[in-house]
Amino acid sequence: MAELTVILYMLTISLFTATVSASQCSTNGFPLVRNINELPQDNYGRPGLSHITVAGSLMHGLKEVEIWLQTFAPGARTPIHRHSCEEVFVVLKGSGTLYLASNSHSKSPGKPQEFSVFSNSTFYIPVNDAHQLWNTNDKEDLQVLVVISRPPAKIFMYDDWLMPHTAARLKFPYFWDEQCYQKNSKDEL
Ligand SMILES: *[C@@H]1O[C@H](CO)[C@@H](O)[C@H](O)[C@H]1NC(C)=O
Repeated sequence: MAELTVILYMLTISLFTATVSASQCSTNGFPLVRNINELPQDNYGRPGLSHITVAGSLMHGLKEVEIWLQTFAPGARTPIHRHSCEEVFVVLKGSGTLYLASNSHSKSPGKPQEFSVFSNSTFYIPVNDAHQLWNTNDKEDLQVLVVISRPPAKIFMYDDWLMPHTAARLKFPYFWDEQCYQKNSKDEL
């Protein structure tokens, strides 16, 4: 009898845990108006990053675009990476440096161009260009709103700018998509 109680107890706990994690994913429906401050926020294993999927594909069921709110602490940065989706940034706070290598036709990205980005600036990453956003301001957080097309993102990561494009590693699903990813969840690719 005691054993049965323990089993029932454990079953209840695991059902509860499953419900809590699934409730962040699109199967459960979402209120139309949501408070960004109450959305799940995490660094997804990257020190100095805060990522919020404001409106997402796997998380919220969007088909064409996805929107992120990201905050980089001083010194924090994205990996060097590329993707075949379009990406638009709006800098809400702080400043930093965009490194962009427009060399998707060469063997490797090569030495990137540097662009200063600042509060109220906006920029667009051409499809498949390797890039990196870095909070190079040691005094302030860098906060950006990011819009990508064709979610969920398929991201190829480079160790450095000389790594061949063919050696870049695909990370899919990306870190913040892992929890809501289900195989065959998309009706088309
Ligand atoms: C950014 O733009 C908004 C709206 O025009 C303005 O109120 C704000 O002062 C600007 N901030 C900076 C740092 O330029």
